[in-house]
Amino acid sequence: MLFRPGVKESKVDFYNFEMELKGVIEALISEIHRMIVIKGVRRTGKSSLLRVSLNESSLPHLLIDLREFCSGDQIYESVELSLGRTLSKLKGLKRYLETVSGISIAGFSVSFHERRMGTISSILKALNEWAGDQDTYFAIAIDEAQGLRVVPGFPGLIAHVYDYLERIKLIMAGSQVGLLDRFLGKGNPESPLFARPFLEVKLDRLSKEKSLDFLRRGFSELGISCREENLEETFSRLNGVIGWLANYGYYAIIKGHQKALKLTVNEGSRLVASEIENFLSNRRPARRRYISILRLLSTRPMRWSELKRGLYAEVGKVNDKNFTHYTKELISYGFLVKEKEGIYKLADPLIPEAIKTVR
Ligand SMILES: Nc1ncnc2c1ncn2[C@@H]1O[C@H](COP(=O)(O)OP(=O)(O)OP(=O)(O)O)[C@@H](O)[C@H]1O
Ligand SMILES: [Mg+2]
Repeated sequence: MLFRPGVKESKVDFYNFEMELKGVIEALISEIHRMIVIKGVRRTGKSSLLRVSLNESSLPHLLIDLREFCSGDQIYESVELSLGRTLSKLKGLKRYLETVSGISIAGFSVSFHERRMGTISSILKALNEWAGDQDTYFAIAIDEAQGLRVVPGFPGLIAHVYDYLERIKLIMAGSQVGLLDRFLGKGNPESPLFARPFLEVKLDRLSKEKSLDFLRRGFSELGISCREENLEETFSRLNGVIGWLANYGYYAIIKGHQKALKLTVNEGSRLVASEIENFLSNRRPARRRYISILRLLSTRPMRWSELKRGLYAEVGKVNDKNFTHYTKELISYGFLVKEKEGIYKLADPLIPEAIKTVR
């Protein structure tokens, strides 16, 4: 069901993106690729692509989700949980994990004695060995992987896996594109992951045609007919962001078109506002400037020079270096996108609504 809320797990619930899905599955099982990275701004379906590909590839995997990432400890909890689930599915894996010192295994439950990175490294070695003996690959999937860049030692550990644990495939997804690039060492020879090539899969918004098709199919699966003008209105408001369209579709079947659109915009813009607040919380000195940039772009997409003039007019003179820093940060955190023609635009159609409430 296309409108079923939550991250999609199965291909039957997964609309379109056939090329991307095929590309990721092939890369997971092919010998040539070591690492796959799924990028895209928020709510474009990255987590769904990650999960559907893993399930379709049938590769054994550990899935670590760093969405609400707040401390290194969360990684250990995530590994414990995910490893427990994997153990319950894979006969024979237990024997390999029993050789790892620093963990206890009781039934299908795994726990760390001490939270040490060396233990994770030993677990990965055991998984690599298991996969080699089974003549398969083992996938380590990390959602919102940019969180790892702040955990000391982790970028180095991933580089080690990449270089030496041949039966392990790395697959990552992230919405804070610039931070993910930093984690991957883009342009930074000092970074452990620098110059390790990977397959990049980018998810974009759906075109208008695809967005309307997604909605029509979603309604038709449920035997509900929909009016073309409602679909047009929905697209003009939510654009091709599949997460918002799916949200609207779900509400539309229980509350009807107008209420569904209103709810999606209200709830969605509150979520976006909290994401913006989060971003601004440790940028107090430049808070007004960031808000101004987002407000200016809420009126229309702009070129660098036009945006800079607009910002001057609102907050006074800002030097070029700072201005460039602000736009880069907004792009890094997934609030802006820079189009090929040098045009800056908002990454999410609900930012204009959200930014009205941010003071
Ligand atoms: N291809 C798809 N077909 C059907 N529904 C989808 C598809 N991709 C995403 N969705 C729906 O859109 C919503 C957002 O999807 P998902 O969480 O996968 O996106 P995301 O890019 O990981 O979002 P975020 O940036 O918030 O992490 C979910 O409700 C999901 O059901
Ligand atoms: Mg996600």
